[in-house]
Amino acid sequence: MADLATILKQDHRKLDSMLDELADAGDSEQEELIDEIEQAFERHARLEEQYVYPHVDEDLGDEEFEEANAEHELARQGIEQLRAMAGKPGFGALVDMLKAGIEHHVHEEEREILPQLKRSMDRDEWRELSDEVAERHEAAENGDDDGGSGSGRRATGGRKGSTRRASSSSGTGSRSNGRTNGTNGSGRSSRTASRSTTGTGSRSGGGRRSSR
Ligand SMILES: [Fe+2]
Ligand SMILES: [Fe+2]
Repeated sequence: MADLATILKQDHRKLDSMLDELADAGDSEQEELIDEIEQAFERHARLEEQYVYPHVDEDLGDEEFEEANAEHELARQGIEQLRAMAGKPGFGALVDMLKAGIEHHVHEEEREILPQLKRSMDRDEWRELSDEVAERHEAAENGDDDGGSGSGRRATGGRKGSTRRASSSSGTGSRSNGRTNGTNGSGRSSRTASRSTTGTGSRSGGGRRSSR
């Protein structure tokens, strides 16, 4: 299946050309295009938030994680503003602003976040994440996404947790040290959840990095 970075980049290009189309659209076409842009953005952003950003949080740190999430929120607000401004003077400027904001975010993902993530994960982990995202991406495109209000993230944590435990037995043992912070075997997902709410970040990910 496709590589994670390739899947996300294709979405980015598609979104960019949809925004170009909106910039050139007549008043009567704007609302429909805004709906399409919103749906495409939500599908993409949710996929990243559920499957990719937990790894950003764990492997690249709080700052990258929070910045990426904040930029998604800005884009959501921008799309809402588009709806309010459709057909009004200033709409073109708003499209340009949103496009620039999304370009900034996309640039960081493609040039910094994804390459760093790929370096910080081992090959099997990256492969597994790519497969998972490809599968969810296809389901979302076909309209049978479960909406995933968080259950997807937990499921990912559980699955990856077991994979990691399995792979840690193959020599990168210090990674399991991070996980023993948890009180039981389900350490990863609960740790990710507690980090994002408390912000304490025991940096158990640090142990993982140093093992590489
Ligand atoms: Fe993103
Ligand atoms: Fe993205």
